[in-house]
Amino acid sequence: MTLLSDELKQSAAYKALELVQDGMLLGLGSGSTARYFTEGVGRLVEEGMKVRGVPTSRETAELAAELGIPIVTEIAGQIDLTVDGADEVDPALNLIKGRGGALVREKLVAAASRRFVVVVDESKLVKQLGVGVLPVEVLPFLWRSTAERLAALAQSLVVRGGEETPYISDNGNLILDVTMEGGIKNPADFGVELKKLTGVVEHGLFIGMADTVIVAGPEGPKAIGRLSGGAVARSNPPPKA
Ligand code: 5RP
Repeated sequence: MTLLSDELKQSAAYKALELVQDGMLLGLGSGSTARYFTEGVGRLVEEGMKVRGVPTSRETAELAAELGIPIVTEIAGQIDLTVDGADEVDPALNLIKGRGGALVREKLVAAASRRFVVVVDESKLVKQLGVGVLPVEVLPFLWRSTAERLAALAQSLVVRGGEETPYISDNGNLILDVTMEGGIKNPADFGVELKKLTGVVEHGLFIGMADTVIVAGPEGPKAIGRLSGGAVARSNPPPKA
């Protein structure tokens, strides 16, 4: 990763920090971009802000604990604001997520959120989803059978980490990385087809879930969606790096 890419990720995450308000229950995403947001929340907590966080992965839970952010893993009602990264973002703000392996909890947290804000650098913008692999989490039990049925819908798939030393998700499952040559023509329909397959726990297509995407480019962070309507909630400047 270049230094520039890191700076862009940081600027997108810091823009999202402007939405954090005292008393909020926050969904804390996973991956290198969301990490900047969680670190920023940690600084706000250190300054005295009272927020709690629902982590989307064990890694984020550990980071939040180190930073002194109170952690919640069961909720009644909704999360006020979730901020997370993405692997691909299309013009309709549909996403591919999960290349970091946290897609199930990320989707659960996003689905439980009043507001789901995605933070990316501009390299994540695509015309059509499916430029890279689509992660699909499957149960280990009879996974080859699940993979065969999944392979019938795709060009190819691989077991993340390889069959000898497979990657195991936080939920104890496998991840199959699916390639769709020429991209995913209709992501909403494809997501429905994937969910019908017994053995599939969840897939990385996040359709119609993001209400704002903050994209950082050399000109600075730009919000697409609701934030661009001026709904920035907190007037404090973002914390210094
Ligand atoms: C993890 C994810 C991440 O949000 C996604 O992979 C983006 O990560 P990064 O910000 O490191 O590029 O979906 O499951």
